[in-house]
Amino acid sequence: MSQTDLSARSLDLTDPATFVENDVHEFWRGVRARNPVYWHEPTDRNPGFWVVSRYADVQPLYTDAALISARGNVLDVVLRGDDSAGGSMVAVTDAPRHRPLRNLMFSAFTPRVLGKVVEEVGRRTTALVSAAVGRDSFDFAAEIADRIPMNTICDLLSVPAGDRGDLLRWNKMALSSVHAEHDELDALGARNEIVLYFMDLAQERRDRPGDDVISLLAAAEVEGRPLTVEELAVNCYSLVLGGDETSRVSAICGVLALIDHPGQWQALRTGEVSVESAVEEVLRWSTPSFHLARTAVRDMEINGNQVRAGDIVTLWTVSANNDEEVFDEPRRFTLSRSPNKHLSFGHGPHYCLGAFLARAELRTLLGALVAQVGRMELRGTPRPIYSNFLNGYDVLPVRFEGR
Ligand code: HEM
Repeated sequence: MSQTDLSARSLDLTDPATFVENDVHEFWRGVRARNPVYWHEPTDRNPGFWVVSRYADVQPLYTDAALISARGNVLDVVLRGDDSAGGSMVAVTDAPRHRPLRNLMFSAFTPRVLGKVVEEVGRRTTALVSAAVGRDSFDFAAEIADRIPMNTICDLLSVPAGDRGDLLRWNKMALSSVHAEHDELDALGARNEIVLYFMDLAQERRDRPGDDVISLLAAAEVEGRPLTVEELAVNCYSLVLGGDETSRVSAICGVLALIDHPGQWQALRTGEVSVESAVEEVLRWSTPSFHLARTAVRDMEINGNQVRAGDIVTLWTVSANNDEEVFDEPRRFTLSRSPNKHLSFGHGPHYCLGAFLARAELRTLLGALVAQVGRMELRGTPRPIYSNFLNGYDVLPVRFEGR
C-alpha cells in the first residue's frame, strides 16, 4: 500500500500484519490530522472499538475513572471478552483494590532488592557486550537482549536458572509472533503455561519462603487477606510479561536506531548527549507497547464523540508519542530531546511499576556500548515481530567493532 493510500480508516488495527506491512507513522499522522478519535468498524472476527490518537486526548484518558482495565488492557484480550485475570492481576484491577495491591507489589521492590539486581544487570550486560565485540556478525536480539530483562526479572523472583529458557519461549508467544498468521490459541496456551508455572512456584514459596519477591508477596495481605496462589501466579505473570518483552524490544529498537543514525551514536559516544537523555529518546522512539485498551463503564464524550458504557476504547501511545503538537519533528531520532514527556510507561494509576528497572537496564546497556564499542553496523535484515500490541524485532544481525 502506498503512503498516500493511508487514509484515516484504511488500516485493520486488529491484524498484526498491519504493523509490519505499512508505514504506521504515516498512517497515524493522517489520523491525528483528520480523524483523531474514530470508531474502528467491526471485522469478520472482532467487534468494533474506539481509537484515540492525539497526546492531548490519550494522556488524560489514562487517569479517567470512566475507563476501566478489569476487562483487559490489551486489545486482543478485550475483544475476546473479559480478561480472566481481571480483579486479580495488578495491571487489570481497578479502584479500590488496585491501589493496595499495587502498593504491596511496589513495596516488594525495596531499594536493597533493586540495588542488588541492578548491580547484577551491570555485570551481565558488560560481559555480554564484551563477548560480542569484534565478532564478524551476531544476533543482538538472541545474544544480548534476550538475556538481560528475563534474567533480571527472574533474579527478582528467584526463578531457577534451568526454567528461564521455557519462560522466555512462552513469553515470546504470549503477545506476538514471528509469523504473519498470529495464532491466538498458541498465544493463549503460552499465557496459560506461564500462569501454571507460577502457581507451582508460588505454592512452593508459600510453604518454604525465601528472600525474593514471590515470598514477600506470599506472606503479605491485601484488604485484610493474603493473596491466593492464583492471585500470586497472575501477578508473577504480570511481572514476567511486563518485565521482559517491553524491555527486550526497547533495547533492540534502540540499537537499530543508533545504527540507522550514526551521528546520534557519535554524539552519545563522545558524551555530547547524556546516557539518561538517550534512554528517554530510545523509549519514545521505540514505544514498546503500541496501545493500551480500556472499557468505558459509563457514557462519556471523547473529543466530541459519544462513547457508550461498555464500549472498548484504545489509547494509541505510538501515535501520542509522535504527536507533532507535543514533540518537535517527532520522526527525528534526537537523543538530546528535551522535554521528552513520552507515554511509553503509560500514565496515571497504572503507570509502569517497573519503570525504574527498565530505565536502569537501558542505561546500563547504552553505558556498556559507549564504554566498549566504536562502530556498529547492520549485518543482515532485522526480523520484525507480528503484533498489534508489541513493537519491535526479534532478530537483529549486527557487528560491533571495539573502541
Ligand atoms: C505497567 C510499559 C518494563 C511491570 C505498564 C504500563 C505500560 C508499561 C505502558 C501501563 C499499563 C496500563 O496502563 O494498562 C513498560 C515498558 C517497559 C516496562 C515500555 C520497558 C521498556 C517493566 C518492567 C516491569 C514492569 C521491567 C517489572 C519489573 C509492570 C507492571 C505494570 C506495568 C506490574 C502494571 C502496573 C499497574 O497496573 O499498577 N508497563 N513496562 N514493566 N508494568 Fe511495565
